[in-house]
Amino acid sequence: MHEVDPTSQSNYLQIATKHITFDWTVDFDNKVIAGTATHELIAKNDEVSEVIFDTSYLHIEGVKVDGDAVQDFRLGPKHEVMGSALRVPLPRTLSAGSSILVEITYRTTANGIALQFLEKEQTQGKTFPFLFSQCQPIHARDLAPVQDTPSVKLTYSASVRSVLPVLLSAKRISPPSDGPAHDGKIIGKDEVVYTYDQPTPIPSYLLAIAAGNLQYQSFQVPDGKQWKSGVWSEPELMDKSFWEFSRDTTRFLAAAENLAGPYRFGVYDLLVLPPSFPYGGMENPCLTFVTPTLLAGDRSLTDVVIHELTHSWFGNGVTHAHASHFWLNEGWTTYVERVLLQIIHSPAHRGLSSVIGYKALLDALALFEDKPKYQKLVIDFNYGEDPDSAYSRVPYDKGANFLLHIERTLGGLAVFLPYVKDYIATYMGHSISTETWKNHLYAYFQKNGSEGQIEALNSIDWDAWLHQSGLRLPVEMEYDLTLVNPANALADRWYESRYTTDISKLDFKSSDLDSLDANQRAVFLERLESYNESLPAGHLFHFDKLYSLSTTLSAEIRFRFYTLVLKSPAAMYFVQGAANWVIGVDDTGVIKGRMKFCRPVFRAMFKVNPDLTISTFKQARTQFHPIAQSLIAQDLGLDLTGLRGSG
Ligand code: BES
Ligand code: ZN
Repeated sequence: MHEVDPTSQSNYLQIATKHITFDWTVDFDNKVIAGTATHELIAKNDEVSEVIFDTSYLHIEGVKVDGDAVQDFRLGPKHEVMGSALRVPLPRTLSAGSSILVEITYRTTANGIALQFLEKEQTQGKTFPFLFSQCQPIHARDLAPVQDTPSVKLTYSASVRSVLPVLLSAKRISPPSDGPAHDGKIIGKDEVVYTYDQPTPIPSYLLAIAAGNLQYQSFQVPDGKQWKSGVWSEPELMDKSFWEFSRDTTRFLAAAENLAGPYRFGVYDLLVLPPSFPYGGMENPCLTFVTPTLLAGDRSLTDVVIHELTHSWFGNGVTHAHASHFWLNEGWTTYVERVLLQIIHSPAHRGLSSVIGYKALLDALALFEDKPKYQKLVIDFNYGEDPDSAYSRVPYDKGANFLLHIERTLGGLAVFLPYVKDYIATYMGHSISTETWKNHLYAYFQKNGSEGQIEALNSIDWDAWLHQSGLRLPVEMEYDLTLVNPANALADRWYESRYTTDISKLDFKSSDLDSLDANQRAVFLERLESYNESLPAGHLFHFDKLYSLSTTLSAEIRFRFYTLVLKSPAAMYFVQGAANWVIGVDDTGVIKGRMKFCRPVFRAMFKVNPDLTISTFKQARTQFHPIAQSLIAQDLGLDLTGLRGSG
């Protein structure tokens, strides 16, 4: 296993950034951010004579060290995944502990994938352009020269000139969030300078920016809390966004504080992005980014908010050292997310979420049949290997199940939760490896536990969980099935009816789904998909007619419906509908840019009708986020070289 981050070319072990001051202008006409990044760095060793930054597709205009221009900085050859190392020689050799200022003047270019500049037609309001970033896992280097490794934690401050309101993953200094939009100036025309400060050290992948016609509405915060919370969205979506999140966000954050300790970032806002946002949510500090597909109109998808705010402790507080230990972020977050579901709702809700996660895990493991390395919890990345290609539910659900297994082996939540608090308190603000986590777990129970608990820990098959590949978990897990059973029962009834040839004899009603909530409906569809034999086409037409699944506006249900029917004898009939839905030629009018939805639907379509799939993708490709474009292309075996950059 690499000790050093295998995805960064920077020399962060010799010298590391402590603070960055950004001075940026957002240029919507040319689709670039231009300005300076000034790093305050601290030498970790003696005799440090250069700083190496990660950059990708940045145009470097000049470098100053302690205020003086340096001429002999060098931009290295471009590595396909890691980008070009920017080497800055230092005029004096540094000894451990001493600091230096390096100011880099640069601009971003259209080839980077961290930034997506949207045309006004791609927004809700269709009047102003939009910009957003996605820096995790290793795209911060497309936004600014940085030591792009989560092992370096930095504070930052920024001032950003823009003709549209600007949001950053930091605290707004000016103009005030709750004042008039764009400081009362003309949106889209007048330049306003937005200033921000992030005083809590964060890894580079949490740098984030969004700009567009964005408005703010604050949530009510429980008594005694020092933090603020609210939602940002385009004005056209404000009422829906506020309704969807205002009841739950602050009480979820308060519940997480009870479990994990005080919230440290001062502000917890949500930002509802345009449809091309490629994830469900992204835990940018002070400002979680969410997909607009969460606006279900029934508050049924707010689990994503629980997940993202839990990252405030796991990931944003205690951070994985590098890509190999990514499960420490997502596995821990998913584990605690489900504990919070139990606390906020009921043990049955924790079970329901676990069952959904387990199915997603089995799918992910199966998809990596030819890439067993990515079935492991701790992945031994080669130097320069792309972490985006390894992204899957494995770190989430193998990780969460591993922690659940440890919890149960040790004696349950009452024993485990005090340990969780200690883990957080011990490593808050640090970046750690799996080994550090495991050593602390043992140390904690050696100090606070019994001999029996150490024996319990010794009984765990650490190697199987952490380092083995395979299509299943090392231990079969049991979950609370109270909420799962009714969904499975309905699916089983359908399956049992599969030999009934006379559809009019089928005993199903439109109201069958009324008693199932959104997550139970997902389980229902997944159960149907899990049988060895598909339902006959006639059944599926009837099924769709009764439950209107090919027209439901819930993306969580619709993508599961398509993955079910595209594996059935009715596939030819539904493939065009799936194509239309995924690129927004449907009643929603918007692409389904969240990769959780578009990737499986494109993959399922491809098995049915490759030509239609490829032409559908090519037709709408540039509307998808660059990361989604490249992963869908990989899934479909397409080569995007030569096409990229043109959108
Ligand atoms: N941090 C992740 C998103 C991510 C991971 C982006 C790796 C890029 C690289 C975020 O917290 C996440 O897990 N999002 C999930 C939400 C879900 C688990 C509730 C998603 O997008 O599906
Ligand atoms: Zn996450």
